[in-house]
Amino acid sequence: MQDKELLDIAKAMCDKAYAPYSEFRVGAALLTDDDTVFTGCNIENASYGATNCAERTAMFKAVSEGYTHFKKIAVAAKDGSTAYPCGICLQVMNEFMYDGEVILEEDSKLIKYSVKELLPHGFIL
Ligand code: THU
Repeated sequence: MQDKELLDIAKAMCDKAYAPYSEFRVGAALLTDDDTVFTGCNIENASYGATNCAERTAMFKAVSEGYTHFKKIAVAAKDGSTAYPCGICLQVMNEFMYDGEVILEEDSKLIKYSVKELLPHGFIL
């Protein structure tokens, strides 16, 4: 699976976002160690704190199906802005893909970071 392909899946997932409050639509596509793809979108709630980001939706779907280590996650926002993962999502990535990569888009170009670069000192037990 090419990075561009994963990013395109993330972009398509923006259309599944449930974001009536912020209207900021986010999609994610996650690649597991055995190249299975899990998708996610942000899911908002009238009680704003109950909102789930696209990245965590994808990761939690994967974990609930028995996958606990991921290689890459692509994240895209419908408005074309660069969808840097939030701190909570980075902490979840630290749990399941500390040695993985985050694929994003900036000015219509694919960019890549390691999870370590985005969260150099994630909490571990
Ligand atoms: N959001 C994500 O889905 N992923 C991120 O990395 C940042 C923010 C969502 C949460 C909320 O539904 C909306 O974007 C605005 O914060």
